[in-house]
Amino acid sequence: MSHDPVRALFLPLGDGFVAWPEDHRALFLGAVPDAALEPAWADRLTCVQPLKPAHDRLAAQGFAVAPERRDTAALVFVLLGKQKHENLGLIADGFAALRPGGRLVIAGANEIGAARYEKMVAALVPLEGSLFRFHARAFWAAKPAAEPADLATWRAEAAPRRIVDGRWVSQPGVFAWDRVDPGSAMLTEYFPPRIGGTVADLGAGWGYLSATLIERYPDIAAIDLYEADARSLACARANLGADGRASFHWADVTAGLPARHYDWIVSNPPFHEGRGQRVDLGQGFIAAASAALKPGGRFLLVANRQLPYEATLSRHFASHQMLADGRGYKVIAASAPKSSSR
Ligand SMILES: C[S@@+](CC[C@H](N)C(=O)[O-])C[C@H]1O[C@@H](n2cnc3c(N)ncnc32)[C@H](O)[C@@H]1O
Repeated sequence: MSHDPVRALFLPLGDGFVAWPEDHRALFLGAVPDAALEPAWADRLTCVQPLKPAHDRLAAQGFAVAPERRDTAALVFVLLGKQKHENLGLIADGFAALRPGGRLVIAGANEIGAARYEKMVAALVPLEGSLFRFHARAFWAAKPAAEPADLATWRAEAAPRRIVDGRWVSQPGVFAWDRVDPGSAMLTEYFPPRIGGTVADLGAGWGYLSATLIERYPDIAAIDLYEADARSLACARANLGADGRASFHWADVTAGLPARHYDWIVSNPPFHEGRGQRVDLGQGFIAAASAALKPGGRFLLVANRQLPYEATLSRHFASHQMLADGRGYKVIAASAPKSSSR
């Protein structure tokens, strides 16, 4: 039997434990594209997904989809992910999104500890049922007449907040949400004495690299932050927004950037998506950086040292050089982007 928490999430509907409301509309928080989503639901299901690639795949399947929840509904589905505060925030938001008399269905894979979330919800709200299939648990409950106080706490704990002695704004669930990533910190140690002109930060997260660049280099005329996670980008706005040189782009970097536009590009590329390692994502970032740099532009990259990026760098840049190799990371500078690189 395959692992499929999405299939488990919608089983209570298929098995008749919960029904479509009279208006035939439902919300799906934490939505991901999945074969379990029936095309016939495209007119009924509004999906919420802050990650641009998954958002765009859901939109391509015909679903209404938004990076954050704005609507309410009488039926709400919540798919749990890996991060505890993010999950509790999603559950609390799911209850808040329910209209009176509405129903919340929650599911998560066994490996993320779905049974633990079921217990936590059952301690606050009487469950109407639960099931265990596809290596996942689904459980459901009606909207309580009065909201249990713990739901407000869960919501607050998932919200953006100040981290690292109050220096930065971040949010549970985004990359390195409660700390400066050590790889990014190492990259800033190897920034050259001068950086200026137009700059891009690919996979900018909550903005650490860009904020450091802006702080250190007055010759930067403009810096574009590209980031797939709308929540990270909102934090980056809070961290850099006052600096008029910064622009924020909710974008899938591998889908392409403005051609031959930048003097400098920095990146700590992603190498995971969901449960799996995705070396091709970092390789796509390298190709995108090469195509977006001006002929004399330079690319500064940090990566976990075992990631195989060298062949891709050779394919897309005439030269690249290791600036540092240690603490589990490598810092690489690449120059002379090849003109046929995309
Ligand atoms: C290794 S993290 C680096 C984050 C940030 N630069 C830092 O130093 O903390 C990679 C970032 O890329 C983002 N990301 C993942 N896939 C992406 C894509 N296809 N396009 C743009 N950003 C993406 C992730 O959300 C994550 O914030």
